Amino acid sequence: MRTFRMFILSLFIFNLLLVIPGTARTLTDGQIENKVNELLGKMTLKEKIGQMVQYSYSGSHGSKMQEEAIRQGLVGSFLNGESIADINRLQKIAVEETRLGIPLIFGRDVIHGFRTVLPIPLGQAASWNPHLIEAGNAIAAREARANGVHWTFAPMLDICRDPRWGRIAEGLGEDPYLASQLGAAMTRGFQGNDYSAPDRLAACAKHYVAYGAAEGGRDYNTTAVSERQLREIYLPPFRAAVNAGVATIMSAFNEIDGIPASGNQFTLRTVLRDEWQFKGFVVSDWSSMTEMLNHGFCVDEKDVALKSLTAGVDMEMVSEAYIHHLENLVNEKQIASELIDESVRNILRIKFKAGLFDNPYTPEGGEKVLLTPANQNVAREIARQSLVLLKNEKHLLPLAKNLKRIAVIGPLANAPHDQLGCWVLDGHQEYTITPLKALQDYFGKETEILFAEGLKTSRTTRTDGFDQAFKYASLADAVLLFMGEEAILSGEAHSRAFLELPGAQEKLIEEIAKLNKPTVMIILAGRPLTFHQVAEKVGAIIYAWHPGTMGGPAIVDVLFGDYAPSGKLPVSFPKTVGQIPVYYAHKNTGRPPSPNQKGIPMGTPLDPVAFVSNYLDVDVMPEYPFGYGLSYVNFEYSNLKLSTDKLKMGETLEISVQVKNSGKMAADEIVQLYIRDLVASITRPVKELKGFKRITLKPGERQVVNFKLQTDDLAFYNQQMKMMAEPGKFHLWAGKSAVDGLQAEFWIVE
Ligand code: BGC
Repeated sequence: MRTFRMFILSLFIFNLLLVIPGTARTLTDGQIENKVNELLGKMTLKEKIGQMVQYSYSGSHGSKMQEEAIRQGLVGSFLNGESIADINRLQKIAVEETRLGIPLIFGRDVIHGFRTVLPIPLGQAASWNPHLIEAGNAIAAREARANGVHWTFAPMLDICRDPRWGRIAEGLGEDPYLASQLGAAMTRGFQGNDYSAPDRLAACAKHYVAYGAAEGGRDYNTTAVSERQLREIYLPPFRAAVNAGVATIMSAFNEIDGIPASGNQFTLRTVLRDEWQFKGFVVSDWSSMTEMLNHGFCVDEKDVALKSLTAGVDMEMVSEAYIHHLENLVNEKQIASELIDESVRNILRIKFKAGLFDNPYTPEGGEKVLLTPANQNVAREIARQSLVLLKNEKHLLPLAKNLKRIAVIGPLANAPHDQLGCWVLDGHQEYTITPLKALQDYFGKETEILFAEGLKTSRTTRTDGFDQAFKYASLADAVLLFMGEEAILSGEAHSRAFLELPGAQEKLIEEIAKLNKPTVMIILAGRPLTFHQVAEKVGAIIYAWHPGTMGGPAIVDVLFGDYAPSGKLPVSFPKTVGQIPVYYAHKNTGRPPSPNQKGIPMGTPLDPVAFVSNYLDVDVMPEYPFGYGLSYVNFEYSNLKLSTDKLKMGETLEISVQVKNSGKMAADEIVQLYIRDLVASITRPVKELKGFKRITLKPGERQVVNFKLQTDDLAFYNQQMKMMAEPGKFHLWAGKSAVDGLQAEFWIVE
């Protein structure tokens, strides 16, 4: 651990050194504004509109029309450039063959790493480690920028409480506080202090906003959230990214309470510009503007252009409403030319800040920074910290290192493409280290690794591989089952209605379980799955998400005790799809159920057993709660102390709790702080996360962990939609998860 911290430190120092000489942006914001205005003064209306156009690069064969458009100053940006040479070629046209030489900005989806693929963002979130996430995304930035990318369409900050939604993989979980902390860290990782540096990218917080609340978990679907839910749940991570200086924002596909996100003046102007003072630019999601025709919000493409610009979308991704209609709309005085100027200013400002006017080209040789041992180390560390130990009966894990034979079974044991997860444009599967490969590398000749996948893919129902798997398992001292879902089952437009392990996986587990061998299930997946029945049949379960390039070694580190697992769930796991949405920060309701109550005893008369808010056939508790994750050691919590139990408005509450590692190895714990505001003018959730700290403790070591809460941290949007704390009684917990912890109480007094 210490070596790793030293490594991270040296990485930051190295970055600083790399940035200081000559590459740091030397212009002040005021000087940039002058340059923007000077340039704007020289631009024709057509050229201005050109800056607001983003095309998807159509490849070196079909690009003649696009090249001509650049030459005429009718394009401001591309996404999906193919190679450094390609990108430089197009850039050269913009810089050398147009009247004003304004450089293009090239965007790309660098979602969880570039060539070195990090765990999916939901997995990164399970690390609850902002510093590490910052370091990981700094690596993604370095690899991408050196290969011609100026701008990433990340971080994805959509709060999601529905694991059916395939894009839950790309986000940071269910909680606004956690996602805000981690999303800001990602933003800092991509951008550093100065994204004109040759190893940084401009970032894009997406998808603004409430995209993760899609009905039924169906991608692109309707969201009907109130302004209060927007402000309490969906907006905070975006605000945190804006506060962290995010360069751009992407407007989403969905409608929000009847108004599509790309035509939404409330979210794009009132909140983003007026309240948050956002100074970067807004790009629409891919054709999300013209999709407002399907939404039934616009009458034709011209109406699309009018409504999008009025709402505040500065750049149009792929569809062509702006290029076709903005000029006419200005000439017909339906749109004030000032609105166009404002958008172009926003775009040029970011192009200056990204250093594109000084350094428009990318030097060849970008492959040199890819997949370096240092990058792989960071990817391995994030993967290790993302692993969540869900079950460990009778301390089955860690496994002994001197086993004679280990059976490695399952469709995800050696699936180099699938363990990378969704949204991997630049990761190459030949660099993936799978669990099988890592196990073979880890053990010498003394341990035999018996590999039988059992099932060719996660979805197949063909059981002809079962016999071999059963045979190997019967010969082994321990069985490792690598189950889950393949990459294609999560991500954009890849929602699922059933969340069980797909195909014949459950059958395979049941077969192997008949042998009563020490059996560990490792699940690789893009979302929380439901596996209640089979969980009972194995001794231990590790949730590994899609862990990326270095997933194999990270899993082996944990299986054999070289690293004690420390990940905690960033999202609640349902027992069954019927419980969705299940999340920890729910309201109490007027008829709260007792947590584990379910069912009606046989022969119950028509009288109610209890008219409370629950199900007849399952209780309301999740299978695994938010914040949950076991370790190889036990952490004892004691001495929860508050500096006062009566807090005046404006004062700070100091909280301390002692945590002891009572186990036999060094391990990390993520200490979590929750509160409940018991009575307020607006009903409050039964728990809200307000702080967390990752600590490392040696065997027997204790540490006092401190938190501070100001009364502002306890504020919420009141009936007048003003952010205010109210006097009253609060509960507070410090503990291991959302359902566990020492409890205290305090009051805010007037
Ligand atoms: C996705 C975005 C992505 C964009 C560009 C869209 O389909 O929703 O997340 O950034 O494509 O690739």
